[in-house]
Amino acid sequence: MSDALYFNGRFTTTDERVLTVEDRGFLFGDAVYEVFKFLRRRPVFLAEHWRRLSNGLRAVDIANPWDEHSFDASMGELLQRTAFHDGIVYIEVSRGEGERAHVYPDGMTPNAIAFSRRFKFPDAAKKERGIRLVSTDDQRWKHCDVKSVNLLANVLGKKKASRAGGDEVLFIDGDVVRECGSSSFFIVKDGRVITHPLDVHILPGVTRDRVIEMAVDSVDQRVIAKRELDDADEIFITSTTQGVMPVRQIDEGRELLRGPITADLQRRLDERELLVD
Ligand code: PDD
Repeated sequence: MSDALYFNGRFTTTDERVLTVEDRGFLFGDAVYEVFKFLRRRPVFLAEHWRRLSNGLRAVDIANPWDEHSFDASMGELLQRTAFHDGIVYIEVSRGEGERAHVYPDGMTPNAIAFSRRFKFPDAAKKERGIRLVSTDDQRWKHCDVKSVNLLANVLGKKKASRAGGDEVLFIDGDVVRECGSSSFFIVKDGRVITHPLDVHILPGVTRDRVIEMAVDSVDQRVIAKRELDDADEIFITSTTQGVMPVRQIDEGRELLRGPITADLQRRLDERELLVD
């Protein structure tokens, strides 16, 4: 399908092949990415995605091709060139291209792409039914706070979950519950909303931040022990594409119904997404 594509300052469509085999994102996974949602052609929480992208690029020493103003302008034009009103934009910035060598020369010119895609966001029935998680050992690298395109452990984990009839993988590190393959993880216990603290073990999720803001007086950012999964009152995940999504089962554990705190956060997030400008 031909969608709007931004490539290094110009606009084309995804029919055009723009990258070469010497792009370091392809050769080494030497790239950072971002995904934001748009509704009625308006980006949702764009400033927060920009901030995470900038932080990620700085962390891995890749030059940022934009400042915030040119980023907003580029994404705005991409959405104007997009044929549909609701969807997601995938952005990737690689270190650039050159002869394959692990040690990169200083001052490389990054390759920046962004393209829009249609996306089927969960409907009311799915938002009530929730999803099933399948747990696996967390074998990701030690900088999960950077949204790097090195997603092999996530890809294999999500495939394992899918083969076992699950919708998403839950990464567990020894006794500690980290996050999911492409979403943040929360439990609710005695009215407290609990999620892993921000550190190198998890991605600083934009939706996670919104939930923390909304539930601010009842949030605990602390490590969740595996055994806490057995008696949590509610469990949910969050992401740009899934919003707040209830978890109805983990592995072969007990079945949970969507709880009142999860339902309330879903409703409030949906409202906030439509308010943004
Ligand atoms: N995934 N944790 C991981 C490992 C993720 O990949 C994502 C996002 C999240 C949620 O972050 P946010 O709320 O900012 O979307 C948490 C995106 C959507 C993806 O890889 O497609």
